[in-house]
Amino acid sequence: MVQGSGRRNVLQCHYHAWTYDLDGRLISAPRSEREEGFSTSDFCLQPVRVDSFGPFVFANVSTDTPSLSECLGEMPARMLADGLDFSALVAVERSEWVVEANWKIVVENFDECYHCPVAHPSFSRLMAVDPVSYALESGRWWSRASTPLRIWPEGHAADLPYDPTGPCNAGQFGFLWPNFTLVQNPGPDNAMALYFVPVAPERTLVISEYLFGPDASPEVIRDMVDFNVLVGAEDQRLVESVQRGLSSNRVPQGRLLLDSERLIAHFHRLVAEALSAAA
Ligand SMILES: [Fe+2]
Repeated sequence: MVQGSGRRNVLQCHYHAWTYDLDGRLISAPRSEREEGFSTSDFCLQPVRVDSFGPFVFANVSTDTPSLSECLGEMPARMLADGLDFSALVAVERSEWVVEANWKIVVENFDECYHCPVAHPSFSRLMAVDPVSYALESGRWWSRASTPLRIWPEGHAADLPYDPTGPCNAGQFGFLWPNFTLVQNPGPDNAMALYFVPVAPERTLVISEYLFGPDASPEVIRDMVDFNVLVGAEDQRLVESVQRGLSSNRVPQGRLLLDSERLIAHFHRLVAEALSAAA
């Protein structure tokens, strides 16, 4: 019906120019007046459930699944308690890239920071990545990790990727089943949403949207976006190598560390549940 983004007062199909009101009612169909018994009221768009979380609008084509607020559970309150307040944020930048890995591998990577000390040196200079500081929690359909800024001894040149001065003292990484994530880095008011869109069995489109508060300077916005791009590139190399490994058919079974990787176990249970419900 509609491509791109923006604001419209009506929806017009680009095939035969049938025009619909924003509530889905058919307003007009060219040449329909030449048809006997044609009634626009017979051809409404299919209803879709729509709800929002902060600035994010969710559409659900299913009528018998839990509501968005039920799925989000405690996650919004938990993220707000660690400083994620959407009222201060405006969208600044959006980018997309393709990762050559199944979307579940991408989510698994998001769900643990066991790899951070090895794979993300700048991230690990900025935030605490030890298993005590890096807190993990989960609800029915969501999970979240949070961790404070890393404390460096006075006078120690930590070589941070950006200046984390600001109201947010923690990083937090929320996941909503099946593929929506929300990141807040320490520093000025900020948020980054990442959507992991499966486009093929071994290919995932990652869409990222950055939001910042009015106090974030152009310099810190640039540095924070660069930081996220760097961490994203580090993760991309990892998940693509995992995909190549799994595709070799020489991996009969893996093993999770259920302390550091328990959010992956949470995700795996949701995958297994969804697959058995679909069977
Ligand atoms: Fe990572």
